[in-house]
Amino acid sequence: MTDVCDIPLIRAGVMGWPVDHSLSPRVHGFWLDRYRIRGEYLRIPVAPEDFIGRLRALRQEGFVGCNVTVPHKETALKAVDEAHPLAKRIGAVNTVVVWPDGSLYGFNTDGFGFLENLRAGYAGFDPAAGPAVVLGAGGAARAVIAALLDAGAPEVRLLNRTRERAEHLAGELSGIGAGTITVGDWDARADHLDGAALLANTTTLGMHGQRPLELDLSALPVTALVNDIVYVPLETDLLARARARGNPVVDGLGMLLHQARPGFEAWFGKLPDVTEELRVHVLAGRD
Ligand code: ATR
Repeated sequence: MTDVCDIPLIRAGVMGWPVDHSLSPRVHGFWLDRYRIRGEYLRIPVAPEDFIGRLRALRQEGFVGCNVTVPHKETALKAVDEAHPLAKRIGAVNTVVVWPDGSLYGFNTDGFGFLENLRAGYAGFDPAAGPAVVLGAGGAARAVIAALLDAGAPEVRLLNRTRERAEHLAGELSGIGAGTITVGDWDARADHLDGAALLANTTTLGMHGQRPLELDLSALPVTALVNDIVYVPLETDLLARARARGNPVVDGLGMLLHQARPGFEAWFGKLPDVTEELRVHVLAGRD
């Protein structure tokens, strides 16, 4: 019989600064237990000035890859040897794989996580079904908009407090798929809900400790799917109000869980499932 110590330990982790609050170790740890894989997933605190060196040293330190989180995602794109085309369009890498020859491949699973969460939470969801309204133009919005356009969304209506930031982002992401990005005024955001098939909040508004998201939903079709990528609290005021008027809603926790799946598969050889048990386990580890 093979001794368990003869089986190599597969090592991955998450690099960030700070990284103490990352829920990724809880997600991957759950799957490693569930699938009885001899692996570990570590928190790797790395200051910005050390990031490229630590990333390039992954193989030497026995890692098969890692996740990359704030504030390193943009630098990671520059530091890998090769990146997936969508990661290049998003301008950020959140998952790195060390190939057997030691070279580093980067991809971005945030958009995948966003779409898979919507598909898992609402059976009828089809990104190509109609216009999507996206609130916010930060890092999360980049991945969300790129994924929507890549999946065939005909139109993305982008609304951000700082309009120039939205215009800049629209310019950078135009040309993905056949859909268009239209930028509107933040103050008139309620006027852009007419005919939408999806409303997604990628701003920090509504997050615990932040200001609420003020948005009059009267013009939003009741058939539109409403999603908040905020998951603390799980049911934001936006989701509660949308639910109360009959809209289907999907909370933000699933994006975190689904974005972790491709990395786990690449490193540990198994595409894991997102289950209610995983959700409960991860929620128990929230601060
Ligand atoms: P992330 O990378 O997680 O998306 P971010 O880059 O800090 O985070 O972006 C936060 C988003 O929330 C931005 O769209 C921001 O709007 P600005 O671009 O105008 O800063 C939005 N946001 C944060 N606080 C806000 C507020 N009080 N009102 C409106 N939008 C706000």
